[in-house]
Amino acid sequence: MNVLITGGAGYIGSHCNRYFHEKGINTVVLDDLSDGHEESVVAGKFIKGSFGDKALMKKIFTEEKIDAVIHFAAFASVPDSVARPSRYYHNNVSNMLNLLDAMVETGVKYIVFSSSAATFGEPVYTPIDEKHPQNPINPYGRTKLIGEHMLKEFETAYGIHSCSFRYFNASGCSHDSQIGEAHNPECHLIPLVIKSALYGEPKLKVFGDDYDTRDGSCVRDYVHVEDLAAAHYLGLKYIMEHNCSEQFNLGSQTGFTVLEIIKAFEKVSGLKVPYDIVGRRPGDPAVLVASNEKAKKLLGWKLEQSSLENILTTALNWEKNRKY
Ligand code: UFG
Repeated sequence: MNVLITGGAGYIGSHCNRYFHEKGINTVVLDDLSDGHEESVVAGKFIKGSFGDKALMKKIFTEEKIDAVIHFAAFASVPDSVARPSRYYHNNVSNMLNLLDAMVETGVKYIVFSSSAATFGEPVYTPIDEKHPQNPINPYGRTKLIGEHMLKEFETAYGIHSCSFRYFNASGCSHDSQIGEAHNPECHLIPLVIKSALYGEPKLKVFGDDYDTRDGSCVRDYVHVEDLAAAHYLGLKYIMEHNCSEQFNLGSQTGFTVLEIIKAFEKVSGLKVPYDIVGRRPGDPAVLVASNEKAKKLLGWKLEQSSLENILTTALNWEKNRKY
C-alpha cells in the first residue's frame, strides 16, 4: 500500500511516517517545510511542496499510485490563529479543499485527518466523548471543524471515506530521541518547561492561575506522539476494512494542570523550572480531557507510551540530543 503523508516532516507527521514504515507501508511525505524539518523524514520518499497545489497533488496521486492520505499539514497554533486568522482559513480550509478535489479527480478514496480537541471549545462535560457538542472558541478550532464537515459532505457526495482524529495535547518524543518536537517559535507547554529548566530562557510564563480548576491553572490531557502514530495506522486500517468514516478523540483520559506538569518535570529531571505567573492566554479553555473509550473499543487502540513520566523523559532526552 502507498500512503501520502502531508505534513510528514512536522512533529506528529514525522513520528507517524516512521511508524508506518515500521509496519511495512510505503510512504511519500509532502511538506513545504514551513514548520517541518527534512531531517525528521527518516523513512519514505520526501517531496517539498504544498498540499494546496492541486496540480502537484494530482501528479503525486497518479505517479506514486497513492491509496490513502494521512493529512497532517496545517497551521496549528491556537494563539497564532487568534492573531492571524486569515492564514488559518487559507491553509487549513482552502488548501484542504484543493487536496480533497484532487482526491476526487484521481479516485483516492481514503483520508485520515488531523482534527483537534480545539473543535470542542469550552467543555460542557468531561471527559469529552465523541458526542460532545463542537463549539470552537478560536479560529484554529473553527478551521478544523470545517475540515470535519467537508469530509462528511465529501463522503456523501463523492464516496471519500475518512477518519478524523481530535488530538488532545500531543507530547513526548521518539523513544530513541531520533525525532522530536521542534517548532519555531515554540509555544507548547512541555518544550517550554524544558527550555526554561535547561537554559533559563525563555523563562516559562504560566498563563493564568485564576481558572476554575484545582490549582487555578489550565487542565490538559497529554498523549504521547508515538501512541498517536499508532492510532493513525489503526484508523486507516479501520476505514479501509469497513469502507466507512469515523471520528475519534485521542487522549489519555487523564488531566494535569500546568503547575502539576512543572512539578512532575522537576521530579523526573531533578531540575528546577523557573517561571512567572502571567495573565490568561486568549483562546484557552480551562479544561480539556478526552474520553478515549471509542478509540479503544473500535480500533483496539492502546496507550503504551503516555504515562506523564515517559512523556516528560522522552521530551527531555530529545531536547538534550536534538539534531534539528
Ligand atoms: N501554557 C502556559 N505557558 C506556555 C505555554 C502554554 O501556561 O508558555 C499553558 C496553556 O495556557 C495551556 C497549556 O499550557 O493551558 C497547554 O498549552 P499548549 O500551548 O502546550 O497546548 P494547547 O492546549 O494550547 O494546544 C494544544 C494543541 C493545539 C490544540 C489544542 C486544543 O497544541 O493544536 O491543544 O485546544 F488545538
